[in-house]
Amino acid sequence: MDFSPVGKIGLAPMAGAGDSGFRRICREFGADYTVSEMISAKAIQYGDTKSMTLADHHPDEEPILIQLFGHEPDPLAYAAELIQKKYNPVGIDLNMGCPAPKIFNNGEGSALLKDAELASKLVKSVKKACCCPVSVKMRIGIHSFGAETIEFAQKMEAAGAAFITVHGRTRDQQYAGKADYQAIKAIKEALAIPVIANGDVCDGPSAARILRETGADGLMLARGALGAPYVFSEIKSYFQNNKTNEISLEKRFEICLRQLSYMIEDKGEGKACVEFRKHMLWYLKGIIGAAKYKAAAGHLSSYEDCKELIGRILEDKK
Ligand SMILES: Cc1cc2nc3c(=O)[nH]c(=O)nc-3n(C[C@H](O)[C@H](O)[C@H](O)COP(=O)(O)O)c2cc1C
Repeated sequence: MDFSPVGKIGLAPMAGAGDSGFRRICREFGADYTVSEMISAKAIQYGDTKSMTLADHHPDEEPILIQLFGHEPDPLAYAAELIQKKYNPVGIDLNMGCPAPKIFNNGEGSALLKDAELASKLVKSVKKACCCPVSVKMRIGIHSFGAETIEFAQKMEAAGAAFITVHGRTRDQQYAGKADYQAIKAIKEALAIPVIANGDVCDGPSAARILRETGADGLMLARGALGAPYVFSEIKSYFQNNKTNEISLEKRFEICLRQLSYMIEDKGEGKACVEFRKHMLWYLKGIIGAAKYKAAAGHLSSYEDCKELIGRILEDKK
């Protein structure tokens, strides 16, 4: 397997938002690779089919990395092996960044940052269980960034991580404040394997900035793609000609409907529409007077509902 994230723009994993339909539309609009929502290794080991289906994906989302979380070598190895056999992803990504209390208090996600020995064991056991690259997604610390974070990243490299994605925030910051690009830069400079920078990219200029300031080998974005999966092609055209192309409202909504159709294909209309409601609100972001459409967005229950709402918005804008 020869997947490399170098020079690429990836769609970051997003539990509860980055499902198959969303990943597919992001790939269509220029994401070079995607990452699944985080999946509990333990749940897979227990045979929980709902967790396993989080790894289901459409071929158009590939190359895809499947992200696992856990704090025990055996369940992680078991889950990685099963996932590799069933889905053949280009890589298994290990979550060492999730700040959620439920995860953190269980010694998983960003809690692993305080136990480099255990985290190394996890990387090694997953590597042993599957033949695809194993990567690590981490934050810059639990309370603050320091030498121990760099040491942690070096230990992941020594354990065999193929590359590391760094979200430039501490666990304490959750998703607030600014991502610290100097911290990502320091990690990048201390490692020989590729380092992918993540945090606060939402357009061409911010994508150029994260690469310039961190010296990273590639970048990954999450929230900047919500309601704007076309951001990847915008970034690429900015890299090519230094210009930002405005997308029309008509085009934005066309993309929005296409995302919904992919979600319906995947989950059926009822479930897809309920889950799409939050995406609809993201598509409405930045539209003047959008507040009056929010109630309707929160009640979408069919593709036709969505089409009707969009028709109404476009009519009002004339
Ligand atoms: C709704 C949501 C769900 C997320 N789920 C995951 C996840 O499952 N695994 C993970 O490693 N990071 C997860 N993240 C973190 C993102 O991948 C990313 O690191 C973070 O949002 C910073 O990038 P951004 O500034 O481009 O959003 C999630 C973020 C959001 C907003």
